[in-house]
Amino acid sequence: MNKQEVILCEGLANSLERAVGQCPHDKLFILTDECTHRLCLPLLKDVEAVRGAAEIVIAPGDAHKNLATLASVWQVLSDGGATRHSLLLNLGGGMVTDLGGFAASTFKRGIAYINLPTTLLAMVDAAVGGKTGINFNGLKNEIGAFSPAASVLIETEFLRSLDAHNFFSGYAEMLKHGLISTPEHWAELLTFDTECIDYGRLKQMVGRSVQVKENIVREDPLERGIRKALNLGHTVGHAFESLALAEERPVLHGYAVAWGLVCELYLSFRKTGFPKERMQQTVHFIRQNYGVFPFDCKSYDRLYELMQHDKKNTAGVINFTLLKDIGEIAINQTADRDGIFEAFDFYREVMGI
Ligand SMILES: NC(=O)c1ccc[n+]([C@@H]2O[C@H](COP(=O)([O-])OP(=O)(O)OC[C@H]3O[C@@H](n4cnc5c(N)ncnc54)[C@H](O)[C@@H]3O)[C@@H](O)[C@H]2O)c1
Ligand SMILES: [Zn+2]
Repeated sequence: MNKQEVILCEGLANSLERAVGQCPHDKLFILTDECTHRLCLPLLKDVEAVRGAAEIVIAPGDAHKNLATLASVWQVLSDGGATRHSLLLNLGGGMVTDLGGFAASTFKRGIAYINLPTTLLAMVDAAVGGKTGINFNGLKNEIGAFSPAASVLIETEFLRSLDAHNFFSGYAEMLKHGLISTPEHWAELLTFDTECIDYGRLKQMVGRSVQVKENIVREDPLERGIRKALNLGHTVGHAFESLALAEERPVLHGYAVAWGLVCELYLSFRKTGFPKERMQQTVHFIRQNYGVFPFDCKSYDRLYELMQHDKKNTAGVINFTLLKDIGEIAINQTADRDGIFEAFDFYREVMGI
């Protein structure tokens, strides 16, 4: 996979001029959803390099990350005279960067694209790492390709209009990056004032967070080994996400991951010796900022079943990424039914349900 450049913007206009300049093109298209068209596109109004670009606007939300929307993007590209040498700029959250990245990677067998993520989740996760795709046949990210952006520009100014729920959803992935990297990065995340956000400081932390994902993806672009570190919190998190959806009380992905981290840090404590105090500090932060996803012991079997059917598992054996300590990653760990139920008990006790 080609290398993708991640740039921490020091002045959006300059960074964007440079990034667009590095991608010689005959025509530029900008993809937004209705929301980022209204809130984020105006921030580009003084950027010379994007003046006169053709706009493509799609409906917001993961429910629209589908074939019909993809086809509508292809249609505008085709009708708008896009060629193999055209350039697509994706301005939006993970929905836009996933779908736009896939549209670019398939149009005329692939045109260049730049990601300009506007949610915290997209900055530290979705827009970086080269995975693109859409949902299909009721399945998340069923169709897609590994196809990196030419560059990814990080500008935290966009986050000023983001709501608190989407902020915390992205912050959960940052917490995960803290846990799999260094005690310093983990500690700065736990002590950051999330009520009165210092955007300058946040930008530096986002920079470090992206670096964590970048380093891991560079080492293992196709998820054969260490990239599984990025699944921390997600084995249980995906089960929470699915249960919540089935019970018609959906939760944002990052919230499910945060609650998943509570269970998986407990498993790490029990199985790979993760320090108890660090587990408690992290759990405290999660309880304070994410509240609780309530469930009782009648849901244990259902959650266990959901974990067995997760596409990352083979033959029903549940695969975890656990930690021996912060930054000390143990991939390909397993836990049996009793061990997992014990983690659910811990979650319910510590979260006060
Ligand atoms: N490719 C990957 O590696 C990867 C990793 C994680 C997640 N994802 C995908 O990312 C998607 C989720 O991303 P997301 O959480 O960014 O969701 P999203 O793109 O749906 O954005 C959430 C909401 O915030 C709005 N929004 C975006 N930027 C805003 C801003 N600056 N101010 C105000 N509102 C804004 C959007 O219009 C949308 O309504 C999912 O489809 C998921 O599958 C992909
Ligand atoms: Zn995630």
